[in-house]
Amino acid sequence: MIKKKQSTQILLGPIPPALIACGNKKENNIITLAWVGVVNSSPPMISAAVRPNRHSHDIIRDTGEFSVNLPRADQVDLSDGCGTLSGRDLDKFEHFNLTAVRGTLEHAPLIDECPVSLECKVEKTLELGSHTLFLGRVVSTYVSPDAIDDQGKIDFNRISLLGFCAGSYLGTKPLDRSIGYTKKKQD
Ligand SMILES: Cc1cc2nc3c(=O)[nH]c(=O)nc-3n(C[C@H](O)[C@H](O)[C@H](O)COP(=O)(O)O)c2cc1C
Repeated sequence: MIKKKQSTQILLGPIPPALIACGNKKENNIITLAWVGVVNSSPPMISAAVRPNRHSHDIIRDTGEFSVNLPRADQVDLSDGCGTLSGRDLDKFEHFNLTAVRGTLEHAPLIDECPVSLECKVEKTLELGSHTLFLGRVVSTYVSPDAIDDQGKIDFNRISLLGFCAGSYLGTKPLDRSIGYTKKKQD
């Protein structure tokens, strides 16, 4: 065994430092969340872990809506900025010159500048300790045209999404491999 033990540090990654947009009658806001995950396929569900002291926390809790927007690697400043400034102090859409687009949700906008957006309605809320886990059902998904190939298939290798792990941002390099390719080789 040559791996070094790291206490109980949660080293699961790379994961996307997603931009979560939320809103109410008064304001729209964005919070960067690395702790976002896929938790169910039918119905399609996503988890988002938010500390109760975040300005976005009560907006998501009270409206029951959020959108998950994936940044490109070259949007790393945006991801970091939305994760270090608070909507209590400024309007992040205005500050970062972003476009809030209305999708199908009543309150939470989408971020037009991000290549992938998912609209979620909160179905369950779990208070876990340091974080509140919002379990959101995905009601719509949007993908920018440059992530879709000539056959209409989504291919994330065509866009360079931002990753994150252990406090550092990571880039992603394209890999010309699709799910099941090892099995196909044997057939
Ligand atoms: C890369 C990155 C990942 C983050 N992940 C989380 C997270 O998973 N949960 C959380 O509550 N805060 C997370 N944060 C911190 C919030 O994004 C930050 O406190 C933000 O300023 C809160 O904004 P708000 O007060 O407008 O809601 C993260 C910050 C960064 C930069």
